[in-house]
Amino acid sequence: MRARLVAAAARARRRAVAPYSGFKVGAALLTRGGEIVTGANVESASYGLTCCAERVALFAALTRGKRDFVAVAVVARAPGGAMPCGACRQLLAEHAPDAHVWIADSGDLAKVKRFDVARLLPGAFKMP
Ligand code: THU
Repeated sequence: MRARLVAAAARARRRAVAPYSGFKVGAALLTRGGEIVTGANVESASYGLTCCAERVALFAALTRGKRDFVAVAVVARAPGGAMPCGACRQLLAEHAPDAHVWIADSGDLAKVKRFDVARLLPGAFKMP
């Protein structure tokens, strides 16, 4: 399943819209039921409006009614892969708290690093 999810993220990465940074990222979420929802980063000429692959995938999944995520794979062309940014960690902590995070370099999909959402953002904001 891990290889399948990483492959899905790598495929999604090809649809990234990253004309400003040139840095393409793909993400794929896996539900407990075995469904996969993907996303890729989308950039804007107003740079701050850019949305990371992880959030695009998460928003797509949530708005399709998917919940209960067990893993998220993130693929970028970078040595060792790219870690989710702080904003994505917050969203993942809220909506995918039990998920593992699988990180891979698109140049070597077989080498995957594993993290846990729960440990990537200690003290994540929660609505009181
Ligand atoms: N980016 C992601 O999509 N995910 C990450 O985990 C890190 C950064 C994107 C945002 C922007 O389009 C580009 O990578 C460079 O920061």
